[in-house]
Amino acid sequence: MPSTELIVSKIENGTVIDHIPAGRALAVLRILGITGREGVRVALVMNVESKKLGRKDIVKIEGRELTPDEVDVISAVAPTATINIIKNYEVVKKYKVRPPHVIRGKFKCRNPNCITNQHREHVVTSFVLVKEEPPTFACEYCGRYHSLEELV
Ligand code: CTP
Ligand code: ZN
Repeated sequence: MPSTELIVSKIENGTVIDHIPAGRALAVLRILGITGREGVRVALVMNVESKKLGRKDIVKIEGRELTPDEVDVISAVAPTATINIIKNYEVVKKYKVRPPHVIRGKFKCRNPNCITNQHREHVVTSFVLVKEEPPTFACEYCGRYHSLEELV
């Protein structure tokens, strides 16, 4: 992928999230809680050419491995993503994300009357992926549909 290599250099150790649908890189960063103030090196590549996707985004995070939970949530916003683990500049592991069916405890329901928003109840939120494109999630408790933007 020579054109991409010209934009951002290779990383030494960390994770490359490749084949993200174009325009979703920021949602991926938000899921990972990366604001840019952590001091870790992060590279964002948006809207570059991809043989498989037409256009794609790439996120490169130096010095960080993702937890299985994080990968599951990423798959909801980037079902085409490939996770590459980099050690000493080499790709030592590569795998495709699997779409999660349920995401627990990560996001808030937008329905103010939802039981998950009643502080006394201590109910952990739970969202079910009901549609892949565009990703649409239903609150398991009140049924409200959430687009990606509403959830993340
Ligand atoms: N990469 C990187 N730093 C490295 C090694 C790889 O940033 N030290 C990035 C590459 O730029 C690429 C991704 O990690 O975006 C995957 O690398 P590689 O497997 O070498 O590329 P491809 O063969 O093109 O991957 P795929 O077959 O998954 O498209
Ligand atoms: Zn709800």
